[in-house]
Amino acid sequence: MKEIRKVIVLGATGNVGQRVISALLKASFHVTAGGRALGSMSDLPSEAVKISVDYGSPESLKNAFHDQDAVIEAFNPNVAIFQEQIVQAAIDAGVQHLITPDFSSDTFNENVEELLIFEPKLKAQRLLESAAEKHGINWTAIITGPFFDWAIPRSIFWVNPSSKEVTVFGSGNQQVSMSAIDMVGRASVAVLQNPVAFLNRVAYFADYTVSSNELVTTLSNMDTREMWKPNEIPLSGFLQRGKELWSQDTIDGVQDRLNSPAYQILGTYGLFDESNRYGADFSKKVEEGFGITLAEFQQMLQQAIFK
Ligand SMILES: NC(=O)c1ccc[n+]([C@@H]2O[C@H](COP(=O)([O-])OP(=O)(O)OC[C@H]3O[C@@H](n4cnc5c(N)ncnc54)[C@H](OP(=O)(O)O)[C@@H]3O)[C@@H](O)[C@H]2O)c1
Repeated sequence: MKEIRKVIVLGATGNVGQRVISALLKASFHVTAGGRALGSMSDLPSEAVKISVDYGSPESLKNAFHDQDAVIEAFNPNVAIFQEQIVQAAIDAGVQHLITPDFSSDTFNENVEELLIFEPKLKAQRLLESAAEKHGINWTAIITGPFFDWAIPRSIFWVNPSSKEVTVFGSGNQQVSMSAIDMVGRASVAVLQNPVAFLNRVAYFADYTVSSNELVTTLSNMDTREMWKPNEIPLSGFLQRGKELWSQDTIDGVQDRLNSPAYQILGTYGLFDESNRYGADFSKKVEEGFGITLAEFQQMLQQAIFK
């Protein structure tokens, strides 16, 4: 297998895409940034080649993938509907390795389909595996858990710096594996520098695994002025309510499902189910060399919360 040097990142302008590009450039990969419009890529690093991609066009995809060793699917999950065309174009162009559109919770967990929200990713994975079996393209799925430092300032994490509260869903004892958002770059570099170690499998990367109750204590210990408090919310009814909203959104043709209340409710339920039914705690599966100490985690929290 030849060394991977040339990588195209699809969804280059996104939250994940930008960080993956920076990390790949730092690791001396030759990087091409792919997205819908060249104009939207003007703020990306000048060292990255930019190319516009029409995901629905096999020709456009094949042209973008020409001479690339690897493709990273860092786009919004809406684009996963084009997985069949993307995989076929990658095979036609002779791409060796594909990093799948994951970077999220454990989409390889046996019960995760129940949550509904990962359907585009699951469908994309089934298509990829069936094409890979026939044509031999290699792949890796990167699972990171929630990006805590990215989510806290957006008020979509369960930590509220202004009220000094941690929202505690259920008992608060469920452990959740999570990462700082730059993990997407660290993990992509690790995979592409040593693809044989990650061949055709899911790879788990997390900085830290912690429960909500432990977060209350950790934040209180870090805060010299005030104790943090739990804001307790029962989880009962979450799954049912989330499913109802999801079905209604399907009927209404909601496009931006990632930011819908249904997604939030079902995603939250998936993280805090008391029996780890959806694999939110994947600490035992984390790749060697990844994971940080409590002190390092506190430093990252400090930057995300108290800056
Ligand atoms: N673990 C976590 O906490 C977490 C948080 C957020 C996201 N994620 C995951 O990370 C991955 C990337 O998410 P992201 O937040 O980086 O995505 P994003 O910023 O919403 O979108 C990434 C890029 O995809 C392109 N795009 C968006 N909508 C599109 C559409 N309808 N059709 C075609 N292109 C579209 C856009 O690029 P162009 O317009 O330039 O093409 C956009 O910049 C996803 O798999 C997501 O599930 C995980």
